[in-house]
Amino acid sequence: MAVERTLSIIKPDAVAKNVIGEIYSRFEKEGLKIVAAKMLHLSRAQAEEFYAVHKARPFFNDLVSFMITGPVMAQVLEGENAIAKNREIMGATNPKEAAPGTIRADFAVSIDENAVHGSDGPETAAQEIAFFFKENELCPRTR
Ligand code: TYD
Repeated sequence: MAVERTLSIIKPDAVAKNVIGEIYSRFEKEGLKIVAAKMLHLSRAQAEEFYAVHKARPFFNDLVSFMITGPVMAQVLEGENAIAKNREIMGATNPKEAAPGTIRADFAVSIDENAVHGSDGPETAAQEIAFFFKENELCPRTR
């Protein structure tokens, strides 16, 4: 299996709930390494750019407004099969459908405030990592 990197965001609802550490420990227990991290409060323009792929969706404006209600924690996770593994740890988009023990089942209350973001494929992972981090802000690859 390939060692991959993926972009993870702890969204404003989970930052406000004070569960950054609990979420980080889930990544680490599953063998994902944090190789870059930063806390930031996105501007509306940044949130619109990040979620541009959803521009035509009915939930776009509410999603952008939610993402700027407070700071987010952005991190790059590295590990075998990291993209799919992170999405497994996150659980389904709708927390009501998320498997027990997943981040969204445990910390999210609704589909529109669902605690975490994770890249959904290799191309989006590369784009999303570059959106948040400069090359020299990432730990060098060791494997
Ligand atoms: P999506 O890419 O479908 O899900 P995921 O985050 O699991 O990759 O949607 C992006 C975000 O848009 C999702 O995390 C929350 C928001 N969203 C809504 O607010 N309402 C919705 O009906 C959907 C599908 C998504």
